[in-house]
Amino acid sequence: MQFNRKDLLGLEELTSEQIKLILDTADNFKEVLGRKIKKVPALRGVTIANVFYEPSTRTKMSFELAEKRLSADIINFSKATSSVKKGETLRDTLENIKAMKVDIVVMRHGSSGAHKFASEFLDVSIVNAGDGQHAHPTQALLDMMTLRERWGTLNGKKVTIIGDIMHSRVARSNIWGLTKMGAKVTVCGPPTMMPMEIEKLGEGGVKLEYDLEKAVSEADAINILRIQLERQSIRLFPSSREYFEVFGVTSDVLSLAPDDCIVMHPGPMNRGVEIAQEVADSEQAVILPQVTNGVAVRMAVLFLIAGGKVDDTELNEN
Ligand code: CP
Repeated sequence: MQFNRKDLLGLEELTSEQIKLILDTADNFKEVLGRKIKKVPALRGVTIANVFYEPSTRTKMSFELAEKRLSADIINFSKATSSVKKGETLRDTLENIKAMKVDIVVMRHGSSGAHKFASEFLDVSIVNAGDGQHAHPTQALLDMMTLRERWGTLNGKKVTIIGDIMHSRVARSNIWGLTKMGAKVTVCGPPTMMPMEIEKLGEGGVKLEYDLEKAVSEADAINILRIQLERQSIRLFPSSREYFEVFGVTSDVLSLAPDDCIVMHPGPMNRGVEIAQEVADSEQAVILPQVTNGVAVRMAVLFLIAGGKVDDTELNEN
């Protein structure tokens, strides 16, 4: 099967077969990452621009590492040191990057829809590394890869997403990806951080539960979200201490979930706000394995967007 897509803008546009293809390809690339020489020539001659208008630790480093592991040529752009400071528009910046004969643009932008806008005028592949509150498809893919590794399947599994659902592109992409793969999703958080009609999102919708204890009680996995203060124009809860008291995932809360419930967090974490120290560092947490899988997932996405087929990849060491 070939991926046959110019861009990856969001998981809502993918079929379950395409999501499975990405996850299967990522499994293959994870094997490469376990080798002594962690590099394959699959994207030799392909040029990729990493265009980050917002701060990032995991996503930016992980894309860059994935590109290096695939032998691509890389250029990096960050808003803080660019001509955006002199007033250059997104369109002009991207047209200039295209003029340098770049093949793929990996972009993070603070505006929801920036990637869709770019994909309409740029005949260069766009990979979404996060757009506003809309989508973070590679984060959801690495979350699903991590869960599938442990369970073998996502079908029928129960995943509860906890926290600032309103501002979370991670929540939206997880809802689309997980429901397409047959998982049952519950969302839980303060009513002030719950988007209207969230129940209708995804394939077949999600369950809404405001009571944290009920929300974790049957969860096979919980995905705890960061409170995104930078996206709140007005304060949506009284204080971080009160948020932690009501919606913070502590070991007492986790003890109400099944013993083998998996704990996830996309990072960066606010320890003591949405997640207690002992939960973040518990045996049940897979927060660092998520980061490891991020490199393999991003290798898979870039490889497939570039037109690669799994069966004719040169997965040989070079
Ligand atoms: N999970 C995530 O997107 O982290 P960064 O903002 O550090 O990339």
